[in-house]
Amino acid sequence: MASDVLEKKGPRAHDAVPTFTVTMIVRRFDPEVDEEPRWVDYDLEMHGTDRVLDALHKIKWEIDGSLAFRRSCAHGVCGSDAMRINGRNRLACKTLLKDLDVSQPIYVEALKGLPLEKDLIVDMEPFFDSFRDVQPFLMASSKPKDGKERLQSPEERARFDDTTKCILCAACTSSCPVFWTDGQYFGPAAIVNAHRFIFDSRDEGAQVRMDILNDKEGVWRCRTTFNCTDACPRGIQVTQAIAEVKQAIMRGKP
Ligand code: SF4
Ligand code: F3S
Ligand code: FES
Repeated sequence: MASDVLEKKGPRAHDAVPTFTVTMIVRRFDPEVDEEPRWVDYDLEMHGTDRVLDALHKIKWEIDGSLAFRRSCAHGVCGSDAMRINGRNRLACKTLLKDLDVSQPIYVEALKGLPLEKDLIVDMEPFFDSFRDVQPFLMASSKPKDGKERLQSPEERARFDDTTKCILCAACTSSCPVFWTDGQYFGPAAIVNAHRFIFDSRDEGAQVRMDILNDKEGVWRCRTTFNCTDACPRGIQVTQAIAEVKQAIMRGKP
């Protein structure tokens, strides 16, 4: 009995949500056919609770199965579906259509500054190269004082709490005008992930990372444009984290 009620409730609740028509204009590129990317329009019947990711699924599953994009968790955790939506970097799974102006077409394209592979998919390797370069893992060679645990006070933990939230979506780095110029700059995401360990009292590799980021392509290339902070879907104070790393380098310690 209870399961009958549950089975009927889901579809009925969704059907009750009014539908509307939205035009999505997606920048498509198939390297085997196209010399240049091209914009393609799709008129879609969507529900008020749908997200941009749902609209992309509708295109892929009902109109054109060749549309290529990345997604995995669909809930803002994996970081795989960052893309430019109406000119701003966002996660497709966290962007509700109703929060956009659906009386106008919604433009969707791949992240800027990373090599375009197909449709909404970019090559993330340059991004992950910079991430790997800052050695984003705990370096702790010595034994804990009591031989068992590396204790940390709440205040010590708070110093890097914000930067632990990064999901490596690349929305920040691919919104940075300095990164767009030549792609050599480490970029905000790599600095955020260096920050996460530089300010961790249990870590012993702060100086190594500060030396890496005190490079001509390191923190000093940041021009405090704040695009990265605006783009971060996790609300990380990216520009603030970069400023803290700059100050640590100048002080010679975290
Ligand atoms: Fe994404 Fe924010 Fe991490 Fe940048 S700092 S990669 S925008 S989660
Ligand atoms: Fe770029 Fe962010 Fe600095 S957008 S210039 S890394 S403040
Ligand atoms: Fe995982 Fe959007 S699909 S963050």
